[in-house]
Amino acid sequence: MECFEIKGQKKLKGVVSISGAKNAAVAIIPAAIVAEGVSVIENLPDIEDVACLMKTLNALGAKCTLSDESTLIIDARKVKSYIANDESVRKIRASYYLMGALLGRFGHAEVALPGGCNFGERPIDQHLKGFRMMGARIDTSDDRVIKLDVNGRLHGANIYLDVASVGATINIMIAACRAKGRTVIENAAKEPHIVDTANFLNMLGANIKGAGTDVIRIQGADRLHGGEYTIIPDQIEAGTYIICGAVTGGDITVKNLIPKHMDSLMAKLEEIGCRIIEGDDYIRIISDGRLYSTNVKTMVYPGFPTDLQPQITALLSIAEGRSKVIENVWETRYQYIAELKKFGAKIEVKGREAVIDGVKELKGADVSATDLRAGAAMIIAALAAKGVSTIYNIHFIDRGYANIESKLCMLGADIKRVAVEEKPNSSEKAQ
Ligand code: EPU
Repeated sequence: MECFEIKGQKKLKGVVSISGAKNAAVAIIPAAIVAEGVSVIENLPDIEDVACLMKTLNALGAKCTLSDESTLIIDARKVKSYIANDESVRKIRASYYLMGALLGRFGHAEVALPGGCNFGERPIDQHLKGFRMMGARIDTSDDRVIKLDVNGRLHGANIYLDVASVGATINIMIAACRAKGRTVIENAAKEPHIVDTANFLNMLGANIKGAGTDVIRIQGADRLHGGEYTIIPDQIEAGTYIICGAVTGGDITVKNLIPKHMDSLMAKLEEIGCRIIEGDDYIRIISDGRLYSTNVKTMVYPGFPTDLQPQITALLSIAEGRSKVIENVWETRYQYIAELKKFGAKIEVKGREAVIDGVKELKGADVSATDLRAGAAMIIAALAAKGVSTIYNIHFIDRGYANIESKLCMLGADIKRVAVEEKPNSSEKAQ
């Protein structure tokens, strides 16, 4: 296994370029097989979740070829199987999008229950409700595989989501592209990767209107074709580097991002004492190392993203005064706090709320990534800490951050990927 060794307290300086969005890529790759065509997907992030999805699609009969490290060609014409049940399906969360894609295209789908980061209950009842309303019969009697099928073809439906779920919105949207008639999703989620997936599907010939608002209308098509598409930059990767700059008292420019997607984070960083310069496709963050407390509530987009909650909590652990973080999306997304405390952070969690009393300095520690974003929070704490830290279970981090150690090294961080024989007693929970 591998770990990261980080020698902290280096002020980050320079420029870092953001990769394509993980959560758009993991929706767009499965979505490609709803069409009988060849899709060329550019600006793909070089991450484990993408590698995993390529294996899954190949097992279904698609032909996935990387023409360079960030361009994937998916030939979906030869997909014959609607059974996605191999190991790679179980490894990641986004394999649930295969349900929408296979059901939409074939009227049948058998998909292994999704894996992914395990920070608590992750229900998919809203996805299934949507499919059911479009005419699918659903068999959940096997606790490892969900079976869905429909007589002939799905039909359009009016679907009100009880929670504005990212996954349910995208999954229903994918299936509805091939349904007979019109589907309306109300209380839809509005995250940037939903708009990106809708744009991709429209490029394949779908007719989706309203993505990015809370009502999405989809007119089903008889056939979809292939095409070329470029994935948007990763909002969460960008936010993670911006926080790395802030926590080290650095001066970094994060380029190839969409500044609008960063509004909620930048407002908080300005509030706690950072200077921000924004361009068309970059943000420069300048920090003199003096940070002040604030309160953060995670919410669906355009609110503060839950996927930056562990990272901002790590940052606030050295901000002067008392901060409060309220997690509104994943109630139990606080498993990493016990690890953060090993750096000397003072944090108490009660239910959805974390109360953080800023300390002057963190000290190096040996910790484990308990999931992907928790792993990013460990890196942030280690960059700020005095001395050397070791982060274990970094396979979680590799799932979602492309070339993270080389990007950080270019900014002046002292981070090494090191092979270790023994896993220490760790708090690995997921997959
Ligand atoms: N929910 C339900 N029923 C459902 C679906 C969701 O009750 O059928 C609830 C969940 O329990 C949660 C809330 O709705 O409280 C939001 O869940 P959502 O469905 O939006 O999350 P997701 O689609 O499973 C995606 C991202 C997550 C990100 C969330 C929220 C992907 C592959 N995953 O998950 O990303 O935290 O949206 O923005 O897109 C990450 O990147 O680290 C990550 C975990």
